[in-house]
This record gives sequence, structure tokens and C-alpha cells, in this order.
Amino acid sequence: MEHFQQVEPFDYVIFGATGDLTMRKLLPALYNRLRMGQIPDDARIIGASRTELDREAYVARARDALKRFLPSDILSPELVERFLALLNYVPLDSSRQSEQWDSLTSLFTKAQPDRVRVFYFATAPQLYGSICENLHRYGLITANSRVVLEKPIGTDMATATAINDGVGQYFPEKQIYRIDHYLGKETVQNVLALRFANPLMNAAWSGEYIESVQITAVETVGVENRAAYYDTSGALRDMIQNHLLQVLCLVAMEAPDSLEADAVRNAKLAVLKALRPITDATAATETVRAQYTAGMVDGKNVPGYLEELGKPSATETYAAIRAWVDTPRWKKVPFYIRTAKRSGKKVSEIVVTFRPSATTMFGTTPARNRLVLRIQPNEGLDLRLNVKNPALDVFNLQPANLDTSIRMEGGLPFPDSYERLLLDAVRGDPVLFIRRDEVEAAWHWAEPILEAWKHDKTPMQTYSAGSYGPEQATQLLASHGDTWHEASE
Ligand code: BG6
Repeated sequence: MEHFQQVEPFDYVIFGATGDLTMRKLLPALYNRLRMGQIPDDARIIGASRTELDREAYVARARDALKRFLPSDILSPELVERFLALLNYVPLDSSRQSEQWDSLTSLFTKAQPDRVRVFYFATAPQLYGSICENLHRYGLITANSRVVLEKPIGTDMATATAINDGVGQYFPEKQIYRIDHYLGKETVQNVLALRFANPLMNAAWSGEYIESVQITAVETVGVENRAAYYDTSGALRDMIQNHLLQVLCLVAMEAPDSLEADAVRNAKLAVLKALRPITDATAATETVRAQYTAGMVDGKNVPGYLEELGKPSATETYAAIRAWVDTPRWKKVPFYIRTAKRSGKKVSEIVVTFRPSATTMFGTTPARNRLVLRIQPNEGLDLRLNVKNPALDVFNLQPANLDTSIRMEGGLPFPDSYERLLLDAVRGDPVLFIRRDEVEAAWHWAEPILEAWKHDKTPMQTYSAGSYGPEQATQLLASHGDTWHEASE
């Protein structure tokens, strides 16, 4: 696998090491990178969390997690042992000062000072500042240290500022890696390749040719055991303020001069700043919010959100927004963003619908060209063109789909989005991470929508679990003569 280059030896300290994210995503992702030959055998992964465990007990949990979350055909006993040998564990309440920190610092006393050190915060974001303060107090921050911050960076502008200030007091911005796992997805990165490496696409990529863009990320899962967290968040904070706005940025941005981190991030920032504000006055026509009620998903009866939560709530599990990017390129192009829990299926995709052809020579208006970029599942793209219907002598048109799956060599499954990002932090490449000003610009746009919702400017709708959302979301598009693209089409 010559394209997977080994990174230099590193120490990865994961705070929140017994949590769901670490077990479900981070350890399996690191195992996979070891399997690909990217992780040297003298790398160290150090778990830290409040749970009192010794190394052996932690390794046993990690072993179970690999078994549970990775397909058995990629778990070779020899590789699993090599991976587990990299693990250490320190019981530590990381937001407090205590002698527990000595166990962590002792692991570093003999480490070379310039060895890469990554601190991954998979804990509650309100702890980020105090963990940084302790990393500083116990002398753990070096010039080659990086800190990876999981979302959510705040629940509004004020809390985001507090988190960013807290971390920024101890780490300069260039050492801060705010992760958004959507940027680790192949098809999301492919937006750049598709747009800028293909003059054909690049030439047509503006409101002159594009009529609308839809960005969808809907899933079948409900909130289940995450209800307590989710109820403080909701669909807008959980998916749109971060993941879907990042996707929108890649679709809408001007060409960066290079793939250097700040060039790309400046281009994304310009899009975020050009988003037309949605206010109390426009929220009712530009946004839809809803909660799922009981229904059927994947053939099973599932309860409604309020039943799962066990109390009344004004938190949305569905959001659809018509956004506008006020730049010359995107004049008159609505960007429809939609996300849902307990949808009929799990789909993330970008749908670009082109304006109709002006030709009258065929007697009918040809179907609109449409490009669907499938982020998941079945990564790839589908371009609808018009061709002549060969069954007829008269010149009738029929749609033809150029459907391309993007596959890994040898039919291997795509790497999980965390895999690349975890090692980008080791490599010191922040291009796929979010800069502070992007987070703030995203809150600047999202916060007034949350405010409008708080003031009930957009009524809360319902949709049955397993359906494609409330009727009002259909109307949001119908007013522009559009319909949602359903992946079943
Ligand atoms: C997370 C959200 O960031 O993204 C979850 O907190 C959501 O609620 C998940 O389920 C979706 O990610 P993916 O990669 O499965 O689309």
C-alpha cells in the first residue's frame, strides 16, 4: 500500500477514553491505520478517563470494541495484539488538579521533547478549557503538541467563544485542530476534485447554470441513549451548524489558490460570511423544524422522540432550511439543507440541479441535468443527461444516467472518516479541520435561527418515524417549483 505512508512516531492522548466515540470510532480508526502500515510500532496511544481501570482492563475493553465495531475479516489476531500493545491507560479526572496527573506526566519524562504529541478531547466541551489549563500546569504542552477538539464547539456564540478562549489561552491557533468528521468523508473531499479538476464542471458551477443545490444528511437512528445530550442540541446544532455548513462551503466557495490549510479555510470563511441572515422576520418562510412521532423504521416499531425522552421538549429532530449565499456566483440559487433523525433511510448527499435548457428544437423542454454526489452510502456520483430515445424514429429524448461509484483499489471499503483526520493531526496538516473564525461565522448565522425558533416564529411540526419529514418541508421547495431528491428515485 505505497500510498499510505507511515507517519513519524507519536503519542496520542485521548481524554474520554472509555466513552462511546473512542470505542466506536477512534480506536477502530487507529487500528485500521496500523493495518495500513501507517502507524509505527513505537507510537503510543494513551487513554485517560475518570473510570478506575488498570491497563489490562482497558486493553480488554479496547479488544471488545475492535470486535464489536470492525468487520471480523480485517481483525487479524496478530495485528490486534500489535495494536493493543500500543495502548496505555491512566485514570484521571482531567478537569481537576490532582496527583492523578503525575501518572500521565510520568509517561512523558523520558519522551523526546520534539516527539509529536496529540491531545484528543472526546469529553464534554465545557471541560476543554480546564483540561488545557491542567496540560499547561503539569508541563505537558510542547512545541510539537496539538489538541484535537470534538464538536460541539459550544451551543451558541457565547459558549463557543468561551471554549475557544479557554483553549486559546494555552494553545496557539495553529496547534488547535477542530474536527468535523464530514470533512474526512471521501465524497465531501471529492467536491473539490470534481469542481476544480474538471473544467467541464467548473465552467457550469454558478447560478448562471445551476438552479438549486440540496444538501441532505438524514438517518434512521433515533436519539435513543443519547437523548440527554441531544435534547440540549437538536438537529440545527448537531448537524447543520457544523457538518452541513462545511459541505455547503465546499460546494459554494471560490477556488482557493492552493490546498494549503489557510487558503482553503479563507475560501470557506468567505462563504459563511456571505450567508444571508435568517431572522425572526424570515424564519417562518425559510426554515422548517419538526420532531418525530412513533412510527416504523426498518420494519420495526419505534417510539416518538418525546416518548424516548420522557418529558416535553422543544428540541427539533428534523430541520430544513433554505439558505442563500449572497455572492455574485450564487445569485438566485437556493441552497436547501435538510437533516433528520428517524428518517426512512440513511442518506447523505449533495444534489445539484441545473437550469433547464432553453432549446425548443425537440418540441419539449429537455429534463434538467442533475448531479447527485453520494456521500453515503454507495459513494459516488450520478449525472443525469438527455439522450435520444433509440426506440423511436422521431427525435424523442430520454434521460440517461452516468452513474459512477467511487471505489478503493481492490474493492476495499472506504476508510472511515476519522481515520484520515486522526493522522492528519499527527502529520500537522490542518486543512480538513475548522479554524476558529469559521466556527464563529457559522454560529453567527445559526444563532438567529435558534433565537427565532425559541420565539416560536417557526412552528414545531411532527413527522412519523420512518417517513421523509413533515409536509411543510415539501412546501419549502414547492414555493420555488422544486422537490426534494429522494435517494429512492
Ligand atoms: C454526529 C452527530 O456528529 O454525526 C450525530 O452528533 C449523527 O447525531 C452523526 O448521527 C452522523 O454522522 P454520519 O457520519 O453517520 O453521517
